[in-house]
Amino acid sequence: MTIPETASTAASAVTTMRAMVRERYGSPSDVLRNAEVAVPTVGADEVLVRVHAAGVDRGTWHIVTGLPYPLRLAGFGVRAPKNPVVGGDLAGVVAAVGRDVTRFRVGDEVYGTGHGSFAEYARASASKLSAKPASLTFEQAAAVPVSAMTALQAVRDRGQVQPGQQVLVIRASGGVGSFAVQVAASYGAVVTGVAHTAKLDLVRRLGAKHVLDYTVDALPHRRYDVILDIGGNTPVARLRKALTRTGTLVIVGGETKGRLLGGVQRQLGATLLSPFVRQHLGTFVCKENADDLAVLAGLIDSGQVTPAVDRVLPLEAVPAALQLLVDGRLLGKLVIAVV
Ligand SMILES: NC(=O)c1ccc[n+]([C@@H]2O[C@H](COP(=O)([O-])OP(=O)(O)OC[C@H]3O[C@@H](n4cnc5c(N)ncnc54)[C@H](OP(=O)(O)O)[C@@H]3O)[C@@H](O)[C@H]2O)c1
Repeated sequence: MTIPETASTAASAVTTMRAMVRERYGSPSDVLRNAEVAVPTVGADEVLVRVHAAGVDRGTWHIVTGLPYPLRLAGFGVRAPKNPVVGGDLAGVVAAVGRDVTRFRVGDEVYGTGHGSFAEYARASASKLSAKPASLTFEQAAAVPVSAMTALQAVRDRGQVQPGQQVLVIRASGGVGSFAVQVAASYGAVVTGVAHTAKLDLVRRLGAKHVLDYTVDALPHRRYDVILDIGGNTPVARLRKALTRTGTLVIVGGETKGRLLGGVQRQLGATLLSPFVRQHLGTFVCKENADDLAVLAGLIDSGQVTPAVDRVLPLEAVPAALQLLVDGRLLGKLVIAVV
């Protein structure tokens, strides 16, 4: 590796690495290729991680395709992607630290989010890394960061879930949903999970007391204290009928084919309506941070949360992995083994 001027590093002569890269936005199978590229250089507050495993999530699919379009204005590159290497979630070992980093040393096992984790090395802000949960393998740990932080912030901060509350998790079998069921149960909620027929067993195993098969069951009326809506695009008016009079609706996501808004119309509508009704309706964007990674490590090491890893695939399978994800064919999370 090239020793960065600002970093104290492990001795290594490696200057290049294997990575999945792209030069333009497009379908993963069209634009992604396996290449030998330069190992990244870290800034003063960054860490270079030797990636052992990388998690696959919806955000990565959006960043590869560049859709919906406003995402390109959010710093990812308007005409072409700024960072050729894709992937965010990672688990690995610290290979170098920037000048101002005091929380980590070379050799520490870490997990969190970085810039370009589908590669042998990735740089990451020290503020978005934490010690890897001791009870997990690197592959399990890589399944956690963005999905579980989103679930935690939905349950704890936006839903403010209390013990004994009835919580409905819509699309409970995916990346965010599989963590949301477990985190809500760890907060003492009575969880009902909504999923496709084939995924109901997983949702029960994750800790849902009740399950609803959306292919046959309608949403009940006025029953849940909190609804975490992670996908499926149920109209806000219909969701409100399944909430108590002062209940809370948290819209986490929901995919449409919309290239301009990508389905955020529901989130906008709920946020605008909320001040005029007794129910609390809203949405949020996950804030990636080390404190929440540490909270999650605690929930994991105490046995309250376990990542549901559907399968582990090699680095060159990233395009196929993203296709499995968007086709909705995964039970929980998919992980890329890099080492
Ligand atoms: N607010 C935030 O900060 C934030 C953070 C992370 C993610 N998100 C958003 O939250 C949503 C869920 O993310 P996720 O990572 O949990 O996604 P995911 O892992 O793909 O899971 C979502 C679930 O939706 C269903 N599904 C997915 N693709 C489908 C398809 N093509 N046809 C039918 N059903 C399909 C599947 O459940 P069934 O098979 O049971 O239907 C799947 O388990 C996305 O819209 C994502 O962009 C938001």
